[in-house]
Amino acid sequence: MQENKVLVAYATMSGSTQEIAESVSQELNRLGLTVEVHPCREVTDLKEYRAVILGAPLYMFRLHKDAVHFLKRHQKQLVHLLVAVFAGGPYGPNAAADALEVRKNLDAELGKFTWLQPISVQLVGGRFDPARLRFPYNLIPALKGSPTSDARDWAEIQAWVNSLPDLFETNITSSAG
Ligand SMILES: Cc1cc2nc3c(=O)[nH]c(=O)nc-3n(C[C@H](O)[C@H](O)[C@H](O)COP(=O)(O)O)c2cc1C
Repeated sequence: MQENKVLVAYATMSGSTQEIAESVSQELNRLGLTVEVHPCREVTDLKEYRAVILGAPLYMFRLHKDAVHFLKRHQKQLVHLLVAVFAGGPYGPNAAADALEVRKNLDAELGKFTWLQPISVQLVGGRFDPARLRFPYNLIPALKGSPTSDARDWAEIQAWVNSLPDLFETNITSSAG
């Protein structure tokens, strides 16, 4: 058993958060960290990890339910771990303008977990693709007729990932001191 690993756990409906999670994992690997990436719902125990990066998209102003269940299920272990969160996200032509409001919404959703103190929370752009909609959203004509778009900013995501190792170290030091 190795207790020094980082877990990237993600919730997704249409796959874009999974792609971000895999990119986050690759980048952390490149930075020399040992990383595993898993869907939230497949994670049963956190004892092998020192840090968790949770990826969760917003749907209808709520965190994806797999992320909510993950936080509830693992609360006891998460309070002792370093946690960072990324969440998507605004998409389409108004993505940048919407980001401020979405950020407030995201902070309110995370604030429901009063015990959760992430070392970093990053709002990322979302991807919309009508071909990837799942039930019940694939039954909504207005959604099915909307154009595809992808507001994920990979350079911004990479920069965020690169900020994490220092944050991990700082927060370990401050909790030890
Ligand atoms: C039906 C529906 C509702 C959504 N609701 C929100 C929302 O409330 N806030 C937001 O910022 N993004 C919202 N989005 C955008 C998604 O969060 C975005 O497309 C994200 O990239 C999806 O992630 P996934 O592909 O991992 O499921 C919504 C998308 C759909 C299709």
